[in-house]
Amino acid sequence: MPRYNHKTDKHILYQEAVQSADAEVEFIDRLYRKAYGRPATLFREDFCGTQLISCEWAKLRPRNIAYGVDLCRKTLAWGLRHNISRLPERVARRVHQVNKNVLEVTRPKMEIIGAFNFSYFIFKHRCDLLAYFQAVRRSLLPKGLFVCDAYGGWESQQVMKEKTKLKGFTYIWDQEVYNPINDHTICHIHFKFPNGKMMKRAFTYDWRLWSLGDIQDTMLDAGFRETEVYWEDEDEDGEGTGVYRKRARADNSPGWNAYIVGYPSGQTHGAE
Ligand SMILES: C[S@@+](CC[C@H](N)C(=O)[O-])C[C@H]1O[C@@H](n2cnc3c(N)ncnc32)[C@H](O)[C@@H]1O
Repeated sequence: MPRYNHKTDKHILYQEAVQSADAEVEFIDRLYRKAYGRPATLFREDFCGTQLISCEWAKLRPRNIAYGVDLCRKTLAWGLRHNISRLPERVARRVHQVNKNVLEVTRPKMEIIGAFNFSYFIFKHRCDLLAYFQAVRRSLLPKGLFVCDAYGGWESQQVMKEKTKLKGFTYIWDQEVYNPINDHTICHIHFKFPNGKMMKRAFTYDWRLWSLGDIQDTMLDAGFRETEVYWEDEDEDGEGTGVYRKRARADNSPGWNAYIVGYPSGQTHGAE
């Protein structure tokens, strides 16, 4: 049998380079408890890719159930083989796959819906972003919440490459295009190996760089009653610490990360 070289698999490299599923799950669990005073069980991961976060959610508590929605059948199949089927059977059977467009899924209704790693930036027009948020709003139980992430700051509008050395490979974030007329941006992920070989354009993103103001306004137009922004703390060198706090104001900074949370009925006001 050929030896499986995990460093040539773009999904393994992606998961190691950009995902922190345990931190993400801890964060959404905390948000829900804070809003409604009890833990959630039903979670949907939109644009789920390989469903790393769904798996982490199912592992968190024995009653937790996760649904992952993704258009790409091949990526879902990869997630089933490499992530879901490696869980104990009692956990794996609580992770479901939905091979559909996120715009078309509204059932079953959920307590938490998440869209991570900026995936909803594929919606470049406000009407499309609104249609997505409306579909999410219709998919939530009254005591529900939607959480998505965003990045920004003036460095996100610069054509540049950022290299991060990781165990066994270098992760390269390549901002190739930014058009200030419409905020459209094209970015790539490349991987470089110690032998000098490159995996070029392992992933390409053709996105609109949405602002936090626009995202929150669009959520409210979609019927959410309340929005919040959790802003990442920075250390003295201006690097993100991975700790997010609810903020109404923040100092402008060259590069920032944040989570936006939408509540369908306002916190604690959701009727069962
Ligand atoms: C950037 S990856 C996100 C992976 C994962 N969510 C994460 O946190 O890293 C974007 C995923 O969204 C999927 N996708 C793009 N448009 C979609 C749509 N309209 N409905 C469902 N999935 C979509 C792609 O197939 C891809 O797997």
